[in-house]
Amino acid sequence: MDFPIFHIDFIGNRLLIAVDAILHVLINHAFAVGALPVVALLEFFGMRSKDPRWDNLAYRLLKIIFILTTTVGALTGVGIWFSAALVNPAAIGSLIRVFFWGWFTEWIVFVCEVSLIMAYFLSWQTAKRSPESKLKHLRLGIFLAAFSWITMAIIVAILGFMMDPGSWLTERTLLSGVLNPMYFPQLALRTTLAMVMGGITMICLTYLYTRNDREFRTLVTSAISRWSGAWLVGLILASIWYYQVIPDHMLANIPVAFATQEYVRWNGRLKVLLIVGLIYVGRILWVSVKRPGQVHGAKYLLSAVLLFAMLGQFERVREFIRKPFIIGNYMYANGIRVEDYPLLQRDGILQHATYAGIREITADNQASAGREVFEQACTRCHTVNGVNSIRAQLKNMYGDKPWQSEAIAAYVENMHGARYFMPPFPGNKAELNALAVYLASLQKRAAAFNGVQINGIPKPDHISTSISYGNLPHLATPHGEHH
Ligand code: HEC
Repeated sequence: MDFPIFHIDFIGNRLLIAVDAILHVLINHAFAVGALPVVALLEFFGMRSKDPRWDNLAYRLLKIIFILTTTVGALTGVGIWFSAALVNPAAIGSLIRVFFWGWFTEWIVFVCEVSLIMAYFLSWQTAKRSPESKLKHLRLGIFLAAFSWITMAIIVAILGFMMDPGSWLTERTLLSGVLNPMYFPQLALRTTLAMVMGGITMICLTYLYTRNDREFRTLVTSAISRWSGAWLVGLILASIWYYQVIPDHMLANIPVAFATQEYVRWNGRLKVLLIVGLIYVGRILWVSVKRPGQVHGAKYLLSAVLLFAMLGQFERVREFIRKPFIIGNYMYANGIRVEDYPLLQRDGILQHATYAGIREITADNQASAGREVFEQACTRCHTVNGVNSIRAQLKNMYGDKPWQSEAIAAYVENMHGARYFMPPFPGNKAELNALAVYLASLQKRAAAFNGVQINGIPKPDHISTSISYGNLPHLATPHGEHH
């Protein structure tokens, strides 16, 4: 409520972040965290066997990794923070308060990672001169793999925290935030999954460079399969561990996540899908180790596609089931803290929204005040006409009959009870009615809005109370004292 509302109507805020973030995660897990150890491993095999084919292949794989991670990977990574900071600045603000030095550390580690990959890639050819420099070069590769994992290990602390802050809710220390209940299980899951994905993705790329040398191709695929197969065992254990720490209210959201995303037929079959997928990948790796050369290339490709799909779907479901919260039990997805609700439901959100244009609702301004309430309370998840549009939702509910603002108000007042994944309505009664009038008006005239919504000039005292202290005035403050 301290910030202007940012909104792009056709894509919506959720999809905006999702497209960027899922692309980033796929590249990070398959081409950085999981792939760099494979490159170092191949380089090591080359040194041990003195067969130059290993080294040449490792270099070619690294070239792809280098280009992909320093372009699309890095840009989508930065893109996550930019888009998230626009879409939910309050949530990012809270995360910075908790993980203050985490941001800085992440930056340092990332700079090291990029410097290391440049050094590793660019010094590859000159390092061939002597066995000593080759050994040093391999060490560079191992450091690079480690740093790439550390950047992920820091981010996973923040991801876990957002799902379940655990004892941080009472202790409020950095350590309790980092060591949240989901941290280690999620780190284990992502690490093992990345290693399996990285291995299989590198096998697929190996096919491009070994067309004229089937014998060497077999050697490589079975060596990488052995490596990935070992991590697959860890992945199965980590998945079970992870499943155990998902809070109950999120597990209850899983069927909803599928139903709302039109996967009704798949409802409840997520586990089956994952298990069948993992068994398939496991079988391919097993055959590839036991009977080298017997697995058709297309099957590796199918395994890679399955793993990419699983990771994408995992992120999608994970993002859905943590609703209605953006930070578990602390802040709702609308950017409003749970503890600020009583105050806002008494005074109204427009009184405290820094950039609101209307603060008093009258008989004449209901629809425009309602639009501002909609901006504050609903647009983090809904658009007017675009993805997850409020018009489509209302049309589903009320069809072509005239939309009644009374019925809409009654629904919105109880929407959290009926649809747990939506936060409770944050404002007061007058705002509820204004919102309902605005929503009902959308049946006839639905003008979408886009960009940064600054409806009024912020009051200086709003800025000082809400931004510098990061807190709304407490409910105990007599009304009016802070205005
Ligand atoms: C945390 C995200 C979030 C917020 C905030 C949110 N919604 Fe929703 N809402 C959803 C999702 C997700 C759906 C289900 C979409 C689907 O079925 O595909 C939904 C569905 C709905 C529906 C249809 C429900 C049904 O029973 O079919 C209505 C009406 C609705 N929202 C209104 C609102 C209003 C009004 C607000 C603001 C006061 C709001 N929502 C805030 C996420 C949210």
